[in-house]
Amino acid sequence: MARSDALQGFLDAAFVAFDQCAQDLRSRRSMGQIFTHLEAVQSERPDIGKRLPVCKRHLDEALTIKTDRRAIEVLIERFKALEPLLEWKWRQTYDSSASENFLMSHANTLIVGPGGLEDREDVWIGATLMAPNVRYPDHAHPPEETYLVLSEGEFQSGQSNWFSPGIGGSFYNSPGIKHAMRSGKKPLFALWALLPEQPQH
Ligand SMILES: [Fe+2]
Repeated sequence: MARSDALQGFLDAAFVAFDQCAQDLRSRRSMGQIFTHLEAVQSERPDIGKRLPVCKRHLDEALTIKTDRRAIEVLIERFKALEPLLEWKWRQTYDSSASENFLMSHANTLIVGPGGLEDREDVWIGATLMAPNVRYPDHAHPPEETYLVLSEGEFQSGQSNWFSPGIGGSFYNSPGIKHAMRSGKKPLFALWALLPEQPQH
């Protein structure tokens, strides 16, 4: 089985970008394991590409970023090449911690992971796009998670205050920790990589 050039090209760029940007040792260990898993290719779902209205309004702007980090530039270029193959979806559940405009103003896509472009259970890598002035709901999940932020916007993890990682910023969410994000005057765009606890053999 072989990956499409678009997907392999994106994953290669993601490997370099996470390696350069993720400094937390827990993230570095997690990302190392994630990319080791990804050496085993799994099947790619054909013809699933689908955009949501927020993508049409804000994705181009979100992907027009200024950075002097070559790894981020390459990552964005590879994401653009991959994006037509991706299925963008609304989050299924949210509560009153989300802003009222949340539903029509966000989109998530899973690049690898359950129901993603490469449909697999052992790792998840995806992206979130939000229009300006949107707050994502508080949420938590068992897998640990590393974010790679590719826009302005604020994030919150556990008991932390809101913080702005900036383009190329990265942070780690431990298993089960509550976290959230919110956009300001510009769209928010971020990648996230989750590593579920692996079944014991
Ligand atoms: Fe998360």
